[in-house]
Amino acid sequence: MTKESRGLLPLNLVLSTLTPPGSFETPHAWAGFISKSSGHKYSVRPSKSLNSAPPAVNFRGRFTALRRRRSGKFSSGYQSFDHVTFYVGNALQAATFYIARFGFSPVAYSGLETNSRDVATHVIRQGTITFAFASALNPEGKMTDEIGKHIWKHGDGAKDIAFKVTDCRGIYAKAMERGATSIREPTELKDEHGTVLIASIHAFGDTTHSFVERVDYKGPFLPGFRAITEEDPLMKLTPAIGLDFIDHIVSNHPDHQMESVVQWYERVLGWHRFWSVDDKQIHTEYSSLRSIVVADDSEKVKCPVNEPAKGKKKSQIQEYVEYYGGSGAQHMALHTSDIIHAVSFLKQRGCKFLTIPSSYYTNLKERLKHSPTVIKEDMDTLQKLNILIDYDDTGYLLQIFTKPSQDRPTLFYEVIQRHGHQGFGAGNFKSLFEAIERDQNDRGNLTDM
Ligand SMILES: [Fe+2]
Repeated sequence: MTKESRGLLPLNLVLSTLTPPGSFETPHAWAGFISKSSGHKYSVRPSKSLNSAPPAVNFRGRFTALRRRRSGKFSSGYQSFDHVTFYVGNALQAATFYIARFGFSPVAYSGLETNSRDVATHVIRQGTITFAFASALNPEGKMTDEIGKHIWKHGDGAKDIAFKVTDCRGIYAKAMERGATSIREPTELKDEHGTVLIASIHAFGDTTHSFVERVDYKGPFLPGFRAITEEDPLMKLTPAIGLDFIDHIVSNHPDHQMESVVQWYERVLGWHRFWSVDDKQIHTEYSSLRSIVVADDSEKVKCPVNEPAKGKKKSQIQEYVEYYGGSGAQHMALHTSDIIHAVSFLKQRGCKFLTIPSSYYTNLKERLKHSPTVIKEDMDTLQKLNILIDYDDTGYLLQIFTKPSQDRPTLFYEVIQRHGHQGFGAGNFKSLFEAIERDQNDRGNLTDM
């Protein structure tokens, strides 16, 4: 997160000075946020819709006020996402899928050979993106019950989203004061590589958040894990993909639960609203959603929170909620500094992405003629790879979305490259949702409400 995006103002206040009274429609979906520019003037960064029939945007009262929360009561000790733990039926095979398709490397393991008698965990990494896949080892027992129930209900899915923090005890203590439900009190884990402090609280649905403070730890993952030093042969399949960090993790929630989840992040973790869109801005002919992005005080960690909104057909968010059995992680955005390279080789590895109609690019090229934004990448290559572009006058982002990573239409991934643009691709939401709806229809789930 750049320093420029600090110092947010209530968007509705600024828009009131920029827009005439009354509601109106605009060809641009203003997925904007207010930022303090390097010249110390506040500016609005609109995110322009690239669709031929962009969603109607009503400026007045549609955007949630975005503001910095400087209560001073919370320790801003968040540094990044640390890792994500998945509960899966077969950790060895799940890890191998991400190694083969996404180009991750195996880095650590815990199981019977490391005296972990109940759970086998395979840890993979690319850049700083770390995924841990855990499976139960025994026919019965406490962990077999926990993992088994999670898989029974949700299928393979993200169980814990862990943040790297500088003050595990402080963040945990504040969260508990503010009504968090404890999963694990701050616990010191040690081995020959050093010490890690870790604590966990309940987040939403069956998903938890952990706070990981790597005091002096030099090991491959966490104490108790054995390093995997042998390179997987599939690593030679393509050049390194170049995914480098988790940009954001999105969660889906049942209707009318988004606001309470956002308030939980504000109250319990001291986070603030960073960006939002509602169903008047983000909708297709058939379905719509509402989304609020929450971020920690330093805005190093960002988590969009979605809920479905009523439309003619079932929202893709509703489809997720029904198949996941409630709230859960919908997609993880993996950042790269070279999306053309990354997507080219992900496709070579058999990674499946959503496809975008050529009309999207025809329209985009026309709109870019009237914008100061210059896309450095070759447009024909972006089109060939189905990479989406969202932009404003100061920068742009490139993004693409995979198909679900398991049989249930639940978790999927985004690959994202940012060129000075800190939005979330709202200008692409309509095209993205239409692409998802084509798959949703294939699944027999684009049904009447
Ligand atoms: Fe995203």
